Amino acid sequence: MAAAEAIRVERVSKRFAEVQAVADISFSVERGEVFGFLGPNGAGKTTTINMLTGLARPDSGRLLVAGHDLAGKSRRAQRHLGVVPDESNLYPELSGFANLCFCAALYGLGRAERRQRARQLLKRLGLDEAGGRRFGGYSKGMKRKLTIAAALIHRPEILFLDEPTTGIDVASARQIRNLIAEQHAGGTTIFLTTHYIEEAERLCNRIAFIVSGRIVRSDSVERLLEPLQGKHLVQITCAGGAEKAAAVLEQSFGELRLQAEAGGRLRVEADRPVPVGSLVRHLEERGIEVLEARRRRPSLEEVFMRVTGLEAAEMNREPQTSRRRR
Ligand SMILES: Nc1ncnc2c1ncn2[C@@H]1O[C@H](COP(=O)(O)OP(=O)(O)OP(=O)(O)O)[C@@H](O)[C@H]1O
Ligand SMILES: [Mg+2]
Repeated sequence: MAAAEAIRVERVSKRFAEVQAVADISFSVERGEVFGFLGPNGAGKTTTINMLTGLARPDSGRLLVAGHDLAGKSRRAQRHLGVVPDESNLYPELSGFANLCFCAALYGLGRAERRQRARQLLKRLGLDEAGGRRFGGYSKGMKRKLTIAAALIHRPEILFLDEPTTGIDVASARQIRNLIAEQHAGGTTIFLTTHYIEEAERLCNRIAFIVSGRIVRSDSVERLLEPLQGKHLVQITCAGGAEKAAAVLEQSFGELRLQAEAGGRLRVEADRPVPVGSLVRHLEERGIEVLEARRRRPSLEEVFMRVTGLEAAEMNREPQTSRRRR
């Protein structure tokens, strides 16, 4: 394992009864990098985090974190890690402050340092008022923030965050994203799972797309977006479906690249700005009703749809065949 690497995963697989949760994945994360695991529900994100943090064992393959092979001295690796699980693991009956002091004690911080660090983190996350109240009574956003504070208590080199902003209010989500950016600026390596494409694009240096336990593409955000540089995109939804509209436009707008997408939408790509008004008029003059036409920013969402063949909206859908744990 090269010294610059914080995480290395080699040909790891994990199966639960009839479900192949993770299928032969390999990737590495460099020190100081924010690495995003982006995939829909049931893709295998949490299973991967659990294996990387020593909570689950792989069926095969090798995992190295902070230079330690998790098959052997996983406890040694754990001192270097902070983990924010998708659901909190803190004590509902203890106050926020007491929870943080408890976590700090687990990592061997002295009494004075524990209290000081707990206060500092409560303040940083805007929880100083709530610090004395029992954790069980916190809102979802407050719980998530305290769980993050607990993971940061021992200043870990590598921080694992499992969907840190899922299911919480906009303001808390923004605070959490700012905190992640701040940790990154301070040199912490961050491994993050999310099903928000925009969040991954904003926070991550590199991203792996994971679908059905497999990494379908992994690259830097810059490289992923490269093929879209200088491209202009428009999306048109017509009453009669995309194929008919494409056939009509093809004849008069030969320079446009037209592609039918799921949901009856037509994707229009060009190297120059697309004349949306002319396209709509052209279609309507030929009896095709246009329901919607809009410009699309060349974003990671485009790349995601192209690479995975999935709709961005499918990211948040619960799969029929799988169930959530806990
Ligand atoms: N302990 C378990 N027992 C049985 N099946 C499991 C278990 N853990 C995960 N799975 C299955 O493995 C697959 C991957 O689950 P995982 O929780 O890793 O997905 P995920 O990408 O984290 O999804 P989500 O976005 O919903 O959190 C799913 O089909 C899930 O039902
Ligand atoms: Mg998960």
